Amino acid sequence: MNRRKFLSRSYLGATSLLIAPETISGLSKNKKPSYSNETPLYAISTWDVSKANMIAGKALEAGFSAIEAAVNGVAYEESNLLNTTVGKGGAPDRDGIVSLDACVMNHTGNCGAVLAVENITHVAALAKEVMEKTPHVILAGKGARQFAIKQGYKPENLLTEQGKKAWKKWLKNKNYKPEINVENHDTIGMICCDKLGNLSGACTTSGLAYKMSGRVGDSPIIGSGLYIDNKVGGAVATGLGEEVIKTVGSFLIVELMRSGLSPQEACEEAVNRILEKQKVKPNFQVAYLSTNINGEVGAYSIQKGFSYTFYKNKINKNISSDSVYK
Ligand code: GLY
Repeated sequence: MNRRKFLSRSYLGATSLLIAPETISGLSKNKKPSYSNETPLYAISTWDVSKANMIAGKALEAGFSAIEAAVNGVAYEESNLLNTTVGKGGAPDRDGIVSLDACVMNHTGNCGAVLAVENITHVAALAKEVMEKTPHVILAGKGARQFAIKQGYKPENLLTEQGKKAWKKWLKNKNYKPEINVENHDTIGMICCDKLGNLSGACTTSGLAYKMSGRVGDSPIIGSGLYIDNKVGGAVATGLGEEVIKTVGSFLIVELMRSGLSPQEACEEAVNRILEKQKVKPNFQVAYLSTNINGEVGAYSIQKGFSYTFYKNKINKNISSDSVYK
């Protein structure tokens, strides 16, 4: 199978496992990748998403670019019906409709995003198609869905029986309050560094559970949910999108790293910018994950419970983040 077919099969129309790591190692046998231990390749993801991060790591080792690895990695969680914050199986809005948001950014600074898309599972891949096949950066709603169908994506019902049951339970009280660390999971933001040392990222989410129809958070907003500058580093965000957007969190982190802060210091400062605006102790979560061009990684969150997954040198680890409130 050639590389193009391999990638398109992996995320178009798939409902369960997207890229089995075994498939990629099979592919790598033919490709004879030229990486070595010195090669900086690694993948980092928000939350404990070991399989998604492993898929990205193996894709990098097989010689795929950082953007291809990131999109294929997050695609696993987009198909994971047990993940209620990303892709198919994501929590619906207050009207019972699941709508998804995603963006991607590559090492050249090019980017693409889709907002409030219904019936399409692999929205990070769709954002990459917006970046590569249209003169635009963002497609929203019906237009994004139409574009997806034209590109060969199969429309699907994204509301699972379990999702419908949970929504009906929510309707009884209609308590519109963001939950902290839902199932220790939320938006998946992933940054990959490939064997050429290029950084790219993807960010994908179903957004705030039971949101108002049309609500869009930080995840598909370039600079808020994700930002990459190949000369400096990259950052991704998870948690309450409104607070990330108000401080343009991921762009802020990259700019702080440009001015000399480490990824850890930059994430801490970005969290502090949010806290400075709060009059009382916040009851929401925001977390950041970042990396610089030296391969250093930083993470920080407001509330405890945030973790990230780090793949490097064939080791995939989940690491707890430090937080303001312990
Ligand atoms: N961070 C995801 C959202 O707020 O939509």
